Amino acid sequence: MNIEDLSEFARKKGFFWVSSEIYGGFTGFYDYGVNGTLLKRKFENQWRKYFLGLDDNFFEIEPSDIMPEKVFVASGHITNFVDPVAKCMKCGAHHRADHILEDFLKRNFEGITAEDLTKLIKDNKIVCPKCKGALGDVKPLIMMFPLSVGAEGDVKGYLRPETAQGAYVNFLRHFNILRNKLPLGLAVIGKAYRNEISPRNLTTRMREFTQAELQIFFDPDKLNEHERWDEVKNYILILYPVDQRGKKTVKLSCEEVVKKLKLPKFYIWYLAKVQQFYLDHLKLPEAKFRFKELSEEEKAFYNKIHWDVELDLESLGGFKEVGGVHYRGDHDLSGHEKISKESHKIFFEGKKFTANILELSFGVDRNIYALIELSYRKEKDRAILSLPPNLAPLQVAVFPLVNKDSIDKKARAVFEALKEDFDAVYDDSGSIGKRYYREDERGTFLAITVDYDSLKAEDVTVRSRDTTKQTRVSIKDLKKTLLTLMK
Ligand code: GAP
Repeated sequence: MNIEDLSEFARKKGFFWVSSEIYGGFTGFYDYGVNGTLLKRKFENQWRKYFLGLDDNFFEIEPSDIMPEKVFVASGHITNFVDPVAKCMKCGAHHRADHILEDFLKRNFEGITAEDLTKLIKDNKIVCPKCKGALGDVKPLIMMFPLSVGAEGDVKGYLRPETAQGAYVNFLRHFNILRNKLPLGLAVIGKAYRNEISPRNLTTRMREFTQAELQIFFDPDKLNEHERWDEVKNYILILYPVDQRGKKTVKLSCEEVVKKLKLPKFYIWYLAKVQQFYLDHLKLPEAKFRFKELSEEEKAFYNKIHWDVELDLESLGGFKEVGGVHYRGDHDLSGHEKISKESHKIFFEGKKFTANILELSFGVDRNIYALIELSYRKEKDRAILSLPPNLAPLQVAVFPLVNKDSIDKKARAVFEALKEDFDAVYDDSGSIGKRYYREDERGTFLAITVDYDSLKAEDVTVRSRDTTKQTRVSIKDLKKTLLTLMK
């Protein structure tokens, strides 16, 4: 699927499109339609269930999207969260310097200094993509959206650029509320805002997007252990270390990763759990998944260890980041201690120290984009979104063969009985064939048809989206059969 096809599909089939479309669209902002919203909620619920289920001391919170400036002074975003921007000397357009170089030279330039980017632009004679004018020197531009808060507008705030800080400023209170235990996990699923200079590739680089992030606070003396290590020690990880760039991924068991890559066990345990989420839960093919190690220059400014979760997306030209596993050390809590002047040290198991943070960070919109691309396929006369039933926008569609002779009444009764337990839709318009194809294309897992035989035999046909095979199932066994099929 190329990006134009994906855009067309997402727009026409009710997944997503550029925001404020009737006013010409608002660049970098997207609206989710009915099917996109259903899919996004499914993903978020699966994420919540899976990651909060990893430890009894992991919980979800909902901090504010707007935070005072001091938070971002403490976190380092005010100084470090900047994009390299080159301004066109002719038309005045601003461009992200690393992105225009990437488009031109087909390499990744993230993390390169402004001086080096300026030199690369000059050496390669790169001009403004809009008007072919000369580009000026590359300068850093702050990526956060500032806000003036209050009647006089004299209180400075920012829309948060990551959900993470909301968990950090609430750590001390939660450590106390949750009976002073470590590891402690605080998850946030919510919006993040970044004034991206060149938003692009649909929902994969936006100015307002959703993150699902889990902050795990732990004792740094226990970085080289995990109490459930045995669960993963022989599990094989798919890795793309820095020294493999340009070559293939390597597959190593978690035990081998300790020895060969010298990563700490606490970190590796979570790499394994993240990989299992993608392969076993979202059911993505192994070949489409890898963890990519970031070099010193590429790492986010707050990270000590940084591997991205990448998925192979044909529409974007190969592997692209959809998440990351970040060992942030004490960067954030020490920063908040310094600026808030409130001690962030805790007493735990007879010691006083600053908890360290391991962050599992995911962009929900990028994952939704990837799920659509990776599950969309075309057959001779139909298109299918072959999402697993735990992710499909809808699980079941109920159709009356015709809208007369009590068939519609019976179909309604079947639908009413199912909608309590399944995400179901009732559709009585158009030919049965068209109704099947419509549901196949938005991923509905099973379709149930009530026909003339149903009146006598008290049964229905159940059609599988993936095989199109139909079987007759008695109405009294329907719920049980659907649950079995979905498993
Ligand atoms: N708290 C860590 C953090 O924010 P990040 O790598 O900057 O790390 C995490 O962002 C994830 O958020 C990324 O892996 C990506 O999936 C998503 N993301 C980042 N910027 C985005 C954007 N402009 N549009 C859509 N998703 C974005």
